[in-house]
Amino acid sequence: MNILTYESVSLDENETSLKILDQTKLPNTIEILNLTDIHDIWNAIYTLQVRGAPAIGIAAAFGLYLEALRLDAEDYFAFMAGLEKARYYLNSARPTAVNLSWALNRMYRVAEVSKDRSIPEIKELLRLEALAIKSEDTEMCRRIGEHGLTLIHDGAGILTHCNAGQLATSKYGTALAPIHLGRERGMNFHVYCDETRPLLQGARLTSFELMADGVDTILICDNMASQVMKEGKVDAIFVGCDRVAANGDSCNKIGTSGLAVLAKYYGIPFYVLGPTSTIDMSIKTGAEIVIEQRKPEEVTEMWYAQRMAPDGVKVYNPAFDVTDNELIAGIVTEHGIARPPYSESLRKIFA
Ligand code: MRU
Repeated sequence: MNILTYESVSLDENETSLKILDQTKLPNTIEILNLTDIHDIWNAIYTLQVRGAPAIGIAAAFGLYLEALRLDAEDYFAFMAGLEKARYYLNSARPTAVNLSWALNRMYRVAEVSKDRSIPEIKELLRLEALAIKSEDTEMCRRIGEHGLTLIHDGAGILTHCNAGQLATSKYGTALAPIHLGRERGMNFHVYCDETRPLLQGARLTSFELMADGVDTILICDNMASQVMKEGKVDAIFVGCDRVAANGDSCNKIGTSGLAVLAKYYGIPFYVLGPTSTIDMSIKTGAEIVIEQRKPEEVTEMWYAQRMAPDGVKVYNPAFDVTDNELIAGIVTEHGIARPPYSESLRKIFA
């Protein structure tokens, strides 16, 4: 039994609550939360108890289903009004990862096109849709893993940022999927995990999940990445994504774009791995992506026994950044590897 045997997000056995592995407690404590109240689900997404673009989409889909179960509406229109309110509310938990609105819109559409059905029938369709979003995510991640594995060899050195692993998805992960899949086939890799300030997803989550899979895992502080690349330890950089624009500009955890700039300098291929549910073809470039701003305390206090910065200091805490498409060697999706120019290759994938 290790961390990979737990599901990061699911419905409980009776399908009446959302079950999440509380990622804020990892790696020291494995705690499962059972949530039924929509405010608790919103809070779990906002506080990163459940996190990672695909996982928050799945959690929101289950959340919307659970809210639909509770709706005691007189007719279809009253039901849809309640569902719409819940959709907007859950969507407001985090702005950057498109998977959140993608999953909620997909759920809402199921109800929208079911005007002729009874409310209990629509609730059942919503249950099936949420479960499908989850199982499709597993399949997409496995396929991303297959494509990503063609980019690396046994024994390769890989650098990753944040956590785009199983914990951030339903299974396998995105950036870490090739590594988990490679392990299933007896391969091993040397994986350098950026600790990922300020919330330490790399230190707390990625290194934990990779070690559980027997991967040679090396934790580095974010400011060590250049040195590790310079020493020739990195054959490729694999990162996840929260929203990819139609031109391939890719938004991911803060610190990602700096790695891409370094990778270009050192001649190391920089790959973004993510399902098509993370590609937002409605936006032309990364400039249109809303970057989530988070609380100053995440920088000044969290993880420290005592506050470590002077009281009153100004803090800027953007949670994501956008990597220019020209720095990206390939975008690995479940349908294959898109190569530059991305405006064409991504369009072909969606066609
Ligand atoms: O703030 P987080 O921890 O939700 O940010 C997550 C990331 O940036 C991941 O790299 C991204 O969601 C890809 S997860 C497969």
